[in-house]
Amino acid sequence: MKTEEVTPIKIEKTTSSRIGQVDFDKLVFGSVFTDHMFVCDYVDGRWETPQIIPYQPLTLDPSARVFHYAQAVFEGMKAYRDDNDGIWLFRPDENFKRINRSSERMAMPVFPEEYFFEGVKTLLKLDEEWIRKGEGNSLYIRPFVIATEPSVMASPSNQYKFVIICSPAQSYYGGEVRVKIADHYSRAASGGIGYAKAAANYGAQFYPTSLAQKEGYQQVIWTDANTHEYLEEAGTMNVFFRIGDTLLTAPTNDRILDGVTRKSVIAIAEANGIKVEVRPVKVSEIIAAAKDGSLKEIFGSGTAAVINPVAGFGYGDEKFELPKMDKPYASMIKKLIVDIQYNKAEDPYGWRYKV
Ligand code: COI
Repeated sequence: MKTEEVTPIKIEKTTSSRIGQVDFDKLVFGSVFTDHMFVCDYVDGRWETPQIIPYQPLTLDPSARVFHYAQAVFEGMKAYRDDNDGIWLFRPDENFKRINRSSERMAMPVFPEEYFFEGVKTLLKLDEEWIRKGEGNSLYIRPFVIATEPSVMASPSNQYKFVIICSPAQSYYGGEVRVKIADHYSRAASGGIGYAKAAANYGAQFYPTSLAQKEGYQQVIWTDANTHEYLEEAGTMNVFFRIGDTLLTAPTNDRILDGVTRKSVIAIAEANGIKVEVRPVKVSEIIAAAKDGSLKEIFGSGTAAVINPVAGFGYGDEKFELPKMDKPYASMIKKLIVDIQYNKAEDPYGWRYKV
Protein backbone atom coordinates (compact mmCIF):
# COMPACT_ATOMS: atom_id res chain seq x y z
CA MET A 1 0.00 0.00 0.00
CA LYS A 2 1.67 3.24 -1.13
CA THR A 3 0.79 6.17 1.05
CA GLU A 4 3.96 8.21 1.03
CA GLU A 5 3.39 9.80 -2.39
CA VAL A 6 1.33 12.95 -2.22
CA THR A 7 -1.27 13.18 -4.95
CA PRO A 8 -2.11 16.69 -6.13
CA ILE A 9 -5.82 16.68 -5.39
CA LYS A 10 -7.61 19.91 -6.32
CA ILE A 11 -9.87 20.81 -3.41
CA GLU A 12 -12.90 23.07 -3.48
CA LYS A 13 -14.53 23.24 -0.06
CA THR A 14 -18.23 23.76 0.49
CA THR A 15 -19.27 27.15 1.85
CA SER A 16 -22.26 25.76 3.76
CA SER A 17 -22.19 22.40 5.50
CA ARG A 18 -25.43 20.38 5.61
CA ILE A 19 -24.43 18.51 8.76
CA GLY A 20 -26.76 20.57 10.98
CA GLN A 21 -29.79 19.24 9.08
CA VAL A 22 -28.98 15.58 9.76
CA ASP A 23 -30.59 13.54 12.53
CA PHE A 24 -27.80 11.08 13.27
CA ASP A 25 -30.11 8.98 15.46
CA LYS A 26 -32.53 8.26 12.63
CA LEU A 27 -30.34 7.41 9.67
CA VAL A 28 -31.78 5.33 6.87
CA PHE A 29 -28.87 3.45 5.31
CA GLY A 30 -27.36 5.21 2.30
CA SER A 31 -29.75 8.14 2.11
CA VAL A 32 -27.74 11.05 3.54
CA PHE A 33 -24.39 12.11 2.10
CA THR A 34 -21.54 14.22 3.47
CA ASP A 35 -20.53 17.67 2.25
CA HIS A 36 -17.86 16.62 -0.26
CA MET A 37 -17.19 14.08 -2.98
CA PHE A 38 -14.09 12.89 -4.81
CA VAL A 39 -14.16 12.90 -8.62
CA CYS A 40 -11.53 11.86 -11.14
CA ASP A 41 -12.09 11.67 -14.90
CA TYR A 42 -10.48 9.26 -17.33
CA VAL A 43 -9.96 10.89 -20.73
CA ASP A 44 -7.57 10.14 -23.60
CA GLY A 45 -6.18 7.02 -21.96
CA ARG A 46 -5.27 8.58 -18.57
CA TRP A 47 -6.74 9.58 -15.23
CA GLU A 48 -6.78 13.37 -14.89
CA THR A 49 -6.02 15.35 -11.71
CA PRO A 50 -8.39 14.17 -8.98
CA GLN A 51 -10.69 16.71 -7.38
CA ILE A 52 -12.68 17.03 -4.20
CA ILE A 53 -15.71 19.23 -4.67
CA PRO A 54 -18.91 19.99 -2.74
CA TYR A 55 -21.40 17.07 -2.98
CA GLN A 56 -23.49 17.74 -6.06
CA PRO A 57 -25.31 16.07 -8.98
CA LEU A 58 -23.25 14.71 -11.86
CA THR A 59 -24.01 15.97 -15.33
CA LEU A 60 -23.87 13.19 -17.91
CA ASP A 61 -24.88 12.94 -21.52
CA PRO A 62 -28.02 10.77 -21.88
CA SER A 63 -26.06 8.52 -24.25
CA ALA A 64 -23.33 7.85 -21.65
CA ARG A 65 -22.63 4.12 -21.83
CA VAL A 66 -23.29 3.54 -18.15
CA PHE A 67 -27.01 4.13 -18.82
CA HIS A 68 -27.18 1.67 -21.70
CA TYR A 69 -24.72 -1.11 -20.94
CA ALA A 70 -24.31 -0.93 -17.13
CA GLN A 71 -20.57 -0.40 -17.37
CA ALA A 72 -20.31 0.45 -13.67
CA VAL A 73 -18.57 -1.00 -10.61
CA PHE A 74 -18.49 0.02 -6.96
CA GLU A 75 -17.07 -0.71 -3.52
CA GLY A 76 -18.31 -0.48 0.04
CA MET A 77 -15.96 0.53 2.87
CA LYS A 78 -16.43 2.06 6.31
CA ALA A 79 -14.58 4.59 8.47
CA TYR A 80 -14.82 4.38 12.27
CA ARG A 81 -14.10 6.91 15.03
CA ASP A 82 -12.47 5.55 18.18
CA ASP A 83 -12.92 6.87 21.73
CA ASN A 84 -9.89 9.15 21.31
CA ASP A 85 -11.18 10.59 18.03
CA GLY A 86 -8.84 8.53 15.87
CA ILE A 87 -10.36 7.71 12.46
CA TRP A 88 -9.79 4.22 11.04
CA LEU A 89 -10.47 2.22 7.93
CA PHE A 90 -10.71 -1.57 7.85
CA ARG A 91 -8.62 -3.42 5.27
CA PRO A 92 -8.94 -0.68 2.59
CA ASP A 93 -6.25 -2.37 0.50
CA GLU A 94 -8.75 -5.20 -0.12
CA ASN A 95 -11.34 -2.74 -1.45
CA PHE A 96 -8.75 -1.07 -3.63
CA LYS A 97 -7.66 -4.37 -5.16
CA ARG A 98 -11.25 -5.50 -5.63
CA ILE A 99 -12.48 -2.36 -7.39
CA ASN A 100 -9.69 -2.79 -9.91
CA ARG A 101 -10.51 -6.51 -10.33
CA SER A 102 -14.13 -5.52 -10.92
CA SER A 103 -13.10 -2.79 -13.38
CA GLU A 104 -10.92 -5.18 -15.36
CA ARG A 105 -13.83 -7.63 -15.69
CA MET A 106 -16.05 -4.82 -16.98
CA ALA A 107 -13.38 -3.68 -19.49
CA MET A 108 -12.76 -0.49 -17.50
CA PRO A 109 -9.37 1.07 -16.70
CA VAL A 110 -7.77 0.37 -13.31
CA PHE A 111 -7.43 3.27 -10.88
CA PRO A 112 -4.02 4.31 -9.45
CA GLU A 113 -3.37 3.19 -5.89
CA GLU A 114 -2.07 6.56 -4.64
CA TYR A 115 -5.10 8.41 -6.05
CA PHE A 116 -7.40 5.97 -4.26
CA PHE A 117 -5.73 6.24 -0.85
CA GLU A 118 -5.06 9.97 -0.98
CA GLY A 119 -8.60 10.52 -2.24
CA VAL A 120 -10.22 8.54 0.58
CA LYS A 121 -7.99 10.04 3.28
CA THR A 122 -8.38 13.66 2.10
CA LEU A 123 -12.15 13.26 1.78
CA LEU A 124 -12.41 11.74 5.26
CA LYS A 125 -10.33 14.52 6.79
CA LEU A 126 -12.57 17.15 5.19
CA ASP A 127 -15.78 15.42 6.27
CA GLU A 128 -14.44 14.06 9.56
CA GLU A 129 -17.25 15.62 11.63
CA TRP A 130 -19.70 13.29 9.88
CA ILE A 131 -18.07 10.25 11.51
CA ARG A 132 -19.82 9.75 14.84
CA LYS A 133 -18.40 8.04 17.89
CA GLY A 134 -20.00 4.94 19.32
CA GLU A 135 -20.30 1.37 18.23
CA GLY A 136 -22.69 0.94 15.33
CA ASN A 137 -21.92 4.41 14.00
CA SER A 138 -19.69 4.61 10.95
CA LEU A 139 -19.24 6.42 7.70
CA TYR A 140 -20.09 4.21 4.74
CA ILE A 141 -17.75 5.03 1.85
CA ARG A 142 -18.96 4.29 -1.64
CA PRO A 143 -16.30 4.50 -4.38
CA PHE A 144 -17.71 3.83 -7.86
CA VAL A 145 -16.68 4.02 -11.48
CA ILE A 146 -19.01 4.73 -14.39
CA ALA A 147 -18.61 4.82 -18.17
CA THR A 148 -19.30 8.37 -19.28
CA GLU A 149 -18.49 8.48 -22.98
CA PRO A 150 -21.46 9.81 -24.94
CA SER A 151 -22.22 6.98 -27.38
CA VAL A 152 -24.62 4.07 -27.49
CA MET A 153 -22.13 1.96 -29.39
CA ALA A 154 -22.08 -1.44 -27.63
CA SER A 155 -18.37 -1.39 -26.84
CA PRO A 156 -16.27 -0.21 -23.87
CA SER A 157 -16.34 3.49 -23.16
CA ASN A 158 -13.24 5.61 -23.68
CA GLN A 159 -14.21 7.93 -20.82
CA TYR A 160 -14.93 7.17 -17.16
CA LYS A 161 -15.59 8.89 -13.87
CA PHE A 162 -14.21 7.55 -10.58
CA VAL A 163 -16.28 9.01 -7.74
CA ILE A 164 -16.28 8.57 -3.96
CA ILE A 165 -19.28 9.59 -1.88
CA CYS A 166 -19.75 9.03 1.86
CA SER A 167 -22.83 8.40 3.94
CA PRO A 168 -23.13 8.33 7.74
CA ALA A 169 -24.46 4.89 8.66
CA GLN A 170 -25.85 2.80 11.45
CA SER A 171 -27.11 -0.73 10.91
CA TYR A 172 -28.15 -1.96 7.47
CA TYR A 173 -30.88 -4.41 8.45
CA GLY A 174 -31.68 -3.29 11.99
CA GLY A 175 -31.91 -6.81 13.41
CA GLU A 176 -32.34 -10.42 12.40
CA VAL A 177 -33.37 -11.22 8.86
CA ARG A 178 -35.33 -14.01 7.23
CA VAL A 179 -33.99 -15.36 3.95
CA LYS A 180 -35.37 -17.38 1.06
CA ILE A 181 -33.18 -19.98 -0.62
CA ALA A 182 -33.37 -19.51 -4.39
CA ASP A 183 -34.69 -22.45 -6.38
CA HIS A 184 -35.51 -20.70 -9.65
CA TYR A 185 -33.77 -17.34 -10.18
CA SER A 186 -29.98 -16.99 -10.21
CA ARG A 187 -27.61 -14.23 -9.24
CA ALA A 188 -24.59 -15.19 -11.31
CA ALA A 189 -23.47 -17.68 -13.93
CA SER A 190 -20.12 -19.42 -14.27
CA GLY A 191 -17.85 -17.28 -16.42
CA GLY A 192 -20.03 -14.26 -15.66
CA ILE A 193 -19.53 -11.23 -13.43
CA GLY A 194 -20.64 -12.63 -10.05
CA TYR A 195 -17.24 -12.11 -8.40
CA ALA A 196 -17.12 -8.47 -9.48
CA LYS A 197 -18.81 -5.69 -7.58
CA ALA A 198 -20.55 -4.75 -10.79
CA ALA A 199 -23.63 -2.57 -10.38
CA ALA A 200 -25.62 -4.94 -12.62
CA ASN A 201 -25.12 -7.85 -10.19
CA TYR A 202 -27.17 -5.95 -7.64
CA GLY A 203 -29.82 -4.52 -9.95
CA ALA A 204 -30.49 -8.02 -11.32
CA GLN A 205 -31.41 -9.24 -7.83
CA PHE A 206 -34.05 -6.61 -7.14
CA TYR A 207 -36.92 -8.41 -8.87
CA PRO A 208 -36.45 -11.90 -7.37
CA THR A 209 -35.69 -10.30 -3.99
CA SER A 210 -38.94 -8.31 -4.19
CA LEU A 211 -40.83 -11.59 -4.77
CA ALA A 212 -39.17 -13.05 -1.65
CA GLN A 213 -40.03 -9.86 0.25
CA LYS A 214 -43.71 -10.35 -0.58
CA GLU A 215 -43.42 -13.69 1.22
CA GLY A 216 -41.95 -12.00 4.31
CA TYR A 217 -38.23 -12.47 3.65
CA GLN A 218 -35.65 -9.67 3.50
CA GLN A 219 -33.07 -11.40 1.31
CA VAL A 220 -32.48 -14.30 -1.02
CA ILE A 221 -29.67 -16.81 -0.53
CA TRP A 222 -28.53 -17.54 -4.05
CA THR A 223 -27.75 -21.05 -5.21
CA ASP A 224 -25.60 -22.14 -8.15
CA ALA A 225 -27.26 -21.30 -11.44
CA ASN A 226 -26.79 -24.76 -13.00
CA THR A 227 -28.36 -27.03 -10.40
CA HIS A 228 -29.65 -24.81 -7.55
CA GLU A 229 -28.16 -27.47 -5.25
CA TYR A 230 -25.35 -25.43 -3.69
CA LEU A 231 -25.63 -22.33 -1.50
CA GLU A 232 -23.59 -19.35 -2.68
CA GLU A 233 -24.24 -15.89 -1.17
CA ALA A 234 -27.03 -13.56 -0.15
CA GLY A 235 -27.73 -10.36 -2.06
CA THR A 236 -25.73 -8.03 0.16
CA MET A 237 -23.75 -10.55 2.24
CA ASN A 238 -21.68 -13.71 2.15
CA VAL A 239 -23.29 -16.47 4.22
CA PHE A 240 -22.12 -18.76 7.03
CA PHE A 241 -23.89 -21.85 8.40
CA ARG A 242 -23.14 -23.35 11.80
CA ILE A 243 -23.78 -27.06 12.01
CA GLY A 244 -22.94 -28.39 15.45
CA ASP A 245 -19.79 -26.43 16.31
CA THR A 246 -18.49 -26.12 12.76
CA LEU A 247 -18.88 -23.07 10.55
CA LEU A 248 -19.43 -23.71 6.86
CA THR A 249 -19.18 -21.25 4.01
CA ALA A 250 -18.94 -21.61 0.26
CA PRO A 251 -15.53 -21.15 -1.37
CA THR A 252 -15.27 -18.05 -3.54
CA ASN A 253 -15.31 -18.66 -7.26
CA ASP A 254 -16.21 -16.59 -10.32
CA ARG A 255 -19.85 -16.43 -9.17
CA ILE A 256 -19.26 -15.35 -5.56
CA LEU A 257 -18.01 -12.03 -4.17
CA ASP A 258 -14.72 -12.33 -2.29
CA GLY A 259 -16.07 -10.45 0.74
CA VAL A 260 -13.65 -8.57 3.00
CA THR A 261 -15.82 -9.26 6.06
CA ARG A 262 -16.15 -12.91 4.93
CA LYS A 263 -12.41 -13.47 4.95
CA SER A 264 -12.08 -11.61 8.26
CA VAL A 265 -14.76 -13.87 9.80
CA ILE A 266 -12.89 -16.99 8.65
CA ALA A 267 -9.58 -15.74 10.08
CA ILE A 268 -11.10 -14.62 13.41
CA ALA A 269 -13.14 -17.79 13.84
CA GLU A 270 -10.11 -20.01 13.20
CA ALA A 271 -7.91 -17.93 15.52
CA ASN A 272 -10.51 -18.42 18.24
CA GLY A 273 -10.68 -22.19 17.96
CA ILE A 274 -13.78 -22.48 15.78
CA LYS A 275 -13.55 -25.11 13.07
CA VAL A 276 -14.29 -23.54 9.69
CA GLU A 277 -14.95 -25.56 6.55
CA VAL A 278 -14.72 -23.59 3.33
CA ARG A 279 -16.35 -25.97 0.89
CA PRO A 280 -19.41 -26.32 -1.32
CA VAL A 281 -22.47 -26.34 0.95
CA LYS A 282 -25.47 -28.30 -0.31
CA VAL A 283 -29.00 -27.02 0.21
CA SER A 284 -30.04 -30.57 1.12
CA GLU A 285 -27.40 -30.67 3.87
CA ILE A 286 -28.74 -27.48 5.46
CA ILE A 287 -32.36 -28.64 5.22
CA ALA A 288 -31.41 -31.99 6.80
CA ALA A 289 -29.49 -30.20 9.58
CA ALA A 290 -32.45 -27.86 10.19
CA LYS A 291 -34.71 -30.89 10.51
CA ASP A 292 -32.46 -32.91 12.83
CA GLY A 293 -31.62 -29.87 15.00
CA SER A 294 -27.89 -29.70 14.22
CA LEU A 295 -28.24 -26.41 12.29
CA LYS A 296 -27.52 -23.88 15.03
CA GLU A 297 -26.99 -20.60 13.19
CA ILE A 298 -26.96 -18.87 9.84
CA PHE A 299 -25.47 -15.41 9.52
CA GLY A 300 -24.44 -13.07 6.75
CA SER A 301 -21.29 -10.96 6.55
CA GLY A 302 -20.65 -7.79 4.60
CA THR A 303 -19.35 -4.26 4.97
CA ALA A 304 -22.79 -2.68 5.13
CA ALA A 305 -24.42 -5.48 7.12
CA VAL A 306 -21.32 -6.28 9.31
CA ILE A 307 -22.53 -9.64 10.70
CA ASN A 308 -26.23 -10.15 10.55
CA PRO A 309 -27.95 -13.13 12.16
CA VAL A 310 -30.62 -15.00 10.23
CA ALA A 311 -33.69 -15.84 12.28
CA GLY A 312 -35.25 -18.23 9.81
CA PHE A 313 -35.31 -19.29 6.21
CA GLY A 314 -37.60 -20.65 3.56
CA TYR A 315 -37.07 -23.19 0.83
CA GLY A 316 -39.88 -23.90 -1.61
CA ASP A 317 -43.00 -24.02 0.56
CA GLU A 318 -41.14 -25.03 3.70
CA LYS A 319 -40.21 -22.59 6.46
CA PHE A 320 -37.54 -23.14 9.13
CA GLU A 321 -36.74 -21.23 12.33
CA LEU A 322 -33.22 -21.15 13.74
CA PRO A 323 -32.80 -21.91 17.47
CA LYS A 324 -31.89 -19.10 19.88
CA MET A 325 -28.33 -19.84 20.98
CA ASP A 326 -26.90 -18.78 24.35
CA LYS A 327 -23.55 -17.81 22.88
CA PRO A 328 -24.03 -17.43 19.16
CA TYR A 329 -20.92 -17.48 17.00
CA ALA A 330 -22.41 -14.51 15.10
CA SER A 331 -22.27 -12.20 18.15
CA MET A 332 -18.92 -13.50 19.35
CA ILE A 333 -17.23 -13.05 15.96
CA LYS A 334 -18.95 -9.73 15.37
CA LYS A 335 -17.59 -8.37 18.66
CA LEU A 336 -14.05 -9.48 17.84
CA ILE A 337 -14.20 -7.80 14.42
CA VAL A 338 -15.94 -4.63 15.61
CA ASP A 339 -13.42 -4.21 18.46
CA ILE A 340 -10.63 -4.21 15.88
CA GLN A 341 -12.54 -1.80 13.63
CA TYR A 342 -13.15 0.69 16.47
CA ASN A 343 -9.60 0.41 17.84
CA LYS A 344 -10.81 -1.23 21.06
CA ALA A 345 -8.64 -4.32 20.72
CA GLU A 346 -5.21 -5.32 19.51
CA ASP A 347 -5.04 -5.84 15.76
CA PRO A 348 -2.69 -8.81 15.31
CA TYR A 349 -3.67 -9.02 11.63
CA GLY A 350 -2.69 -5.46 10.64
CA TRP A 351 -6.20 -4.82 9.29
CA ARG A 352 -6.74 -1.39 10.83
CA TYR A 353 -5.59 1.59 8.74
CA LYS A 354 -5.15 5.02 10.35
CA VAL A 355 -6.55 7.93 8.38
C1 COI B 1 -21.54 -3.63 1.07
O1 COI B 1 -21.64 -4.35 2.07
O2 COI B 1 -20.77 -2.69 1.01
C2 COI B 1 -22.36 -3.92 -0.08
O3 COI B 1 -21.86 -3.84 -1.16
C3 COI B 1 -23.76 -4.15 0.07
C4 COI B 1 -24.48 -3.04 -0.58
C5 COI B 1 -25.08 -3.47 -1.86
C6 COI B 1 -25.41 -2.33 0.33
